[in-house]
Amino acid sequence: MKIFIDTANVEEITRYANMGFIDGVTTNPALMATEQRTAIDVIKEIVGIVDGPISVEVVSTDAARMVAEARHLASLHENIVVKLPAIPAGFEALNVVIQQGIKVNFTMIYTANQALLAAKLGATYVSPFVGRLDVTSTGGAELIEEIVTIYDHYGFETQVLAASMRNSIYVKFAALAGAHAATIPPAVLKAMIESEMSQISLDGFLEQWETLPEASKASLFDGVEE
Ligand code: G3P
Repeated sequence: MKIFIDTANVEEITRYANMGFIDGVTTNPALMATEQRTAIDVIKEIVGIVDGPISVEVVSTDAARMVAEARHLASLHENIVVKLPAIPAGFEALNVVIQQGIKVNFTMIYTANQALLAAKLGATYVSPFVGRLDVTSTGGAELIEEIVTIYDHYGFETQVLAASMRNSIYVKFAALAGAHAATIPPAVLKAMIESEMSQISLDGFLEQWETLPEASKASLFDGVEE
C-alpha cells in the first residue's frame, strides 16, 4: 500500500519522508492556504523533497479553465498529478486532459458511481473522501470496498487513493479494503506510529535493565562504534 502525506507543509513532508515511508504527497487549495506562502514556491519545494506523485489541485471551476490550469501544473514537473474535482465540469476536463497524457487524481469522490465513471475516463487515481462522508452520513469504509470491488471486476487501472483520513482507524479500513494508497495528514501519521503501550513496555524493560551491575550493562557496548 502506498502512503502519501496529505499536507503542503514542507517541514512535515521532510520529516516523514526522512523516515522512509512517504511515496507521494497530496495538497489541496485549503492546505496550500494554510501555509500562507507563494503557491508555486511550495510546489517546487515539495517536488524536490519527495520523488513520487505530487497532487496539486486546480482552482478553476469551468472545464476550459480547468484544462488550461491542468496543462500548466503538469508542465511544472513530471511528478505532478493534477487534482480535478468530481463535479460535472471536472468530468469534462478529465476527458480532455487524460487524452493529453496528463496524470489526474480525481478528487472529492463520494459515490462508487463517480469512481466508476472516473476510471472509465482513465483517471490515474480517485480520491474517496472517507472521513468527510462519515461526518454527514456513514459508509466511508464501505465506499472504499465498493470502489476496489468494482475496479477488480473490470480490471480498471485507476488506483484508489483513500483520502480524508481523519483518524488512524480509517487507514486500517482502507488497507483492509485493498485501497492502493492512502493519503494521510501528519497528525494521523504520528498517531499511527505511536502507541502508549509500546512506550510503557519499553519503560518497564529499561527499568529492570537498570538493576544490573554497571560492568554488566557496559559489556553490551564493548566494540560499539560511536
Ligand atoms: O487532500 C484532501 C483530503 O484528504 C481532505 O481531507 O480532512 O480535509 O477532509 P479533510
